[in-house]
Amino acid sequence: MEQYIIKGGNPLVGEVEIGGAKNAALAILAAAIMSDETVMIDNLPDVNDINVLLDAIAGIGAMVHRVDRHTVKINGKSVTSVDIEYDYIKKIRASYYLLGALLGKYKHAEVALPGGCNIGSRPIDQHLKGFRALGADVEIEHGKIIAEASHLVGKHIYFDVVSVGATINVMMAAAMADGLTILENVAKEPHVVDVANFLNSMGANIRGAGTDVIRIRGVQKLHRTSYSVIPDQIEAGTFMFAAAATKGDVTVLNVIPKHLEATTAKLLEIGCEVEEFDDAVRVVSKGRLKSTHVKTLPYPGFPTDMQPQIGVTLALCEGTSIITESIFENRFKYLDELARMGASVKVEGNSAAIEGVEKFSGARVSAPDLRAGAALCIAGLAADGITIVDDIVYIQRGYERFEEKLRSLGAVIEKVSTEKEIRKFMLKVG
Ligand code: EPZ
Repeated sequence: MEQYIIKGGNPLVGEVEIGGAKNAALAILAAAIMSDETVMIDNLPDVNDINVLLDAIAGIGAMVHRVDRHTVKINGKSVTSVDIEYDYIKKIRASYYLLGALLGKYKHAEVALPGGCNIGSRPIDQHLKGFRALGADVEIEHGKIIAEASHLVGKHIYFDVVSVGATINVMMAAAMADGLTILENVAKEPHVVDVANFLNSMGANIRGAGTDVIRIRGVQKLHRTSYSVIPDQIEAGTFMFAAAATKGDVTVLNVIPKHLEATTAKLLEIGCEVEEFDDAVRVVSKGRLKSTHVKTLPYPGFPTDMQPQIGVTLALCEGTSIITESIFENRFKYLDELARMGASVKVEGNSAAIEGVEKFSGARVSAPDLRAGAALCIAGLAADGITIVDDIVYIQRGYERFEEKLRSLGAVIEKVSTEKEIRKFMLKVG
């Protein structure tokens, strides 16, 4: 099993290129099969989740041509099946975006029901509510969602919960329904807007993405396009908090500063200097940082995907910070690992009280999920001594060349998989 081994203590300094947004790219790749012409997508992050979804798309017969690590051509004309196997869903739940894409285009989709994951039960009732509202029969049989419609008719749909996945999935199905669909109480994340822009570049008619109401006029066909995925605000924010926690000076390049406003606001609150440029943001962290409070909320609130990263940083800030996780029910597991590195934390329900300490001490920890794994690496970078992070397969799902990018900023980190490699690292770093 691969691990990261880290010798902490070096401030991160320099510039780092941010890749394409994983959570936009996954939905965009699924939507690409809705055209019978060739769609080219670039600025894809080269991460495991993307590669698994491309396999699933090829698995139903679509033409998938990987032009290079960050560019793919897809043509949905050759799709022969609307049945997505369980093992794809088991590997990445976002395969469920093929539900909306296939139902929209073929009026039929069969996708294994996604399970929960480490951060929560992850229900999809709002997705199914939207498909049914558009006129689809949706049954769950033997762990599989079977959605069928003679034709889809636009409807006025009010989501009971603000859901990124449901907003995107129903938007895709509605893009090829008959007539006007109005979606209310929708998610407004940048990646929701990116998927709407992508669909519109294929000839869809979607207005209002990024606001509280999305209006979709269905079209009969979607055509070829060439599209570039937006930068990943979560990857960018992860490096920004890594700069804060290691008392560094890091500039994240290729970003949209507006998408980082909630992260920037918190970094300023704890005492970092933040400088914004057209497509870059610089974070400088000098001296002891101060505690603050944060509550995760749907965009434009503070993102739940940045909660572990700010949690690790706050654990080094002077004073007591309170984190409230309002989106997922089980996203504090990393704090148990952080306590083993010397953090002083107390979790009660969906709130965590964090008493800042001067330093962490390196330890062997395990990544409970994607963002928590990245956050524990940040903790190791800021710690005294050696940290080993297990289960880094989670991190590799969403971060491209994570250890290489950290090394380019001065981090002492390597990917290892044997005790021999660990010993070699220890000898090298002394
Ligand atoms: C997306 O998950 C992201 N994943 C998650 O990022 C992110 O944490 C989440 O949005 C919130 O921003 C992808 O985009 C692939 P939701 P999603 O539906 O769409 C409840 C990462 O680290 N809910 O917005 O599954 C749900 O339980 C991942 O990259 C329902 O109740 O999230 C949760 O409490 C982790 N019924 C809340 O809504 C539904 O039908 C928000 O979930 C759907 C969701």
